[in-house]
Amino acid sequence: MLEQLEQLFLNFKQALPTLGSSADVLNLKAEYLGKKGSIAQVLKSLKDASPDQRKVLGGRANAVKDEIQTLIVTRLSDLEQEEINRKLASQRIDITLRDSVMAASTNSGGVHPVTLIWHEIEDLFLSMGFEILDGPHVEDEHHNFEALNIPADHPARDMQDTFWFHNPHDQSVDHRHLLRTHTSTVQVRGMSERTPPFRFIAPGKVFRAERTDASHEMVFHQVEGMMVGKDISVSHLIYFMKSILKEIFKREVTIRLRPGFFPFVEPGFELDIHCLICDGKGCSVCKQVGWVELLPCGMVHPNVLTAGGIDPNQYNGYAFGLGLDRLVMMRYGIDDIRHLHSGDLRFVSQFKHY
Ligand code: PHE
Repeated sequence: MLEQLEQLFLNFKQALPTLGSSADVLNLKAEYLGKKGSIAQVLKSLKDASPDQRKVLGGRANAVKDEIQTLIVTRLSDLEQEEINRKLASQRIDITLRDSVMAASTNSGGVHPVTLIWHEIEDLFLSMGFEILDGPHVEDEHHNFEALNIPADHPARDMQDTFWFHNPHDQSVDHRHLLRTHTSTVQVRGMSERTPPFRFIAPGKVFRAERTDASHEMVFHQVEGMMVGKDISVSHLIYFMKSILKEIFKREVTIRLRPGFFPFVEPGFELDIHCLICDGKGCSVCKQVGWVELLPCGMVHPNVLTAGGIDPNQYNGYAFGLGLDRLVMMRYGIDDIRHLHSGDLRFVSQFKHY
């Protein structure tokens, strides 16, 4: 009988490792330790044995029961661990694989080309010691016109079709409001908060009540620039503009200055660049002239310095108003400004993605 018991135990120990699930292990347990299980059968036959045999056999049978119990518990916990490991391996998510996970589940956005060049320009000017200023979109007449040497009856007001806010209670110059027609509004705001020497740019949206076509929009972007100090000259202006354009277009650009009229600069210029598409030979982008008008600029008018609280006898400066949208169009070969505001994802998604 003892042999029978040892044989049972051996059989159990051989069977246990071959079982792959906890259900099978529990069945095996029932087979051996259950009420009608094999060990119980052996113990039943004890009644026919002599008291001595009974003692030995009984002791051994209980020991075997305990061992089987322990082996089963161990096997069950091993199986559970194996199951966890298998799940971990098959359901593994590598959270460091950001792009593949995001690309599979979401549409990552593109960066608008105006924003791209805007940020690039900010970085470039910052690296040359300029501050970045901001100004309100809703402006008063003073900052948009009066302080810039454009009084109410000045014909230059007609150059910029203005969106006015109607305030029937207060029509004074400081309280008539409008959507700023240019970023030059920031000139006086910037000057009155600083003492020379200083230089800053002010990028932002501007608004004009204009009919839209391939090169005109009612909302567009400018980057105002201003440098004030002692003995500032046109050559400073040319130096900074050439440096910026070289960085933006990644090559040396040829520029020229033509006289231009703006009441807030004297002398005023139009800065043109040699057409980068045809290298000055003439093409549809430059309308066959070989030059593209890029930015108006000039030496700050003494009246404007005065309006900004700066003594024009001590200091002077230059200012420019870069048309950001035109620059974006040149850089990416975009032929219609209306694409920029179309909100068309097929357009925007061609540019950089985060
Ligand atoms: N503010 C002018 C415009 O919008 C541009 C400009 C800025 C001209 C600074 C000269 C100096 O047309």
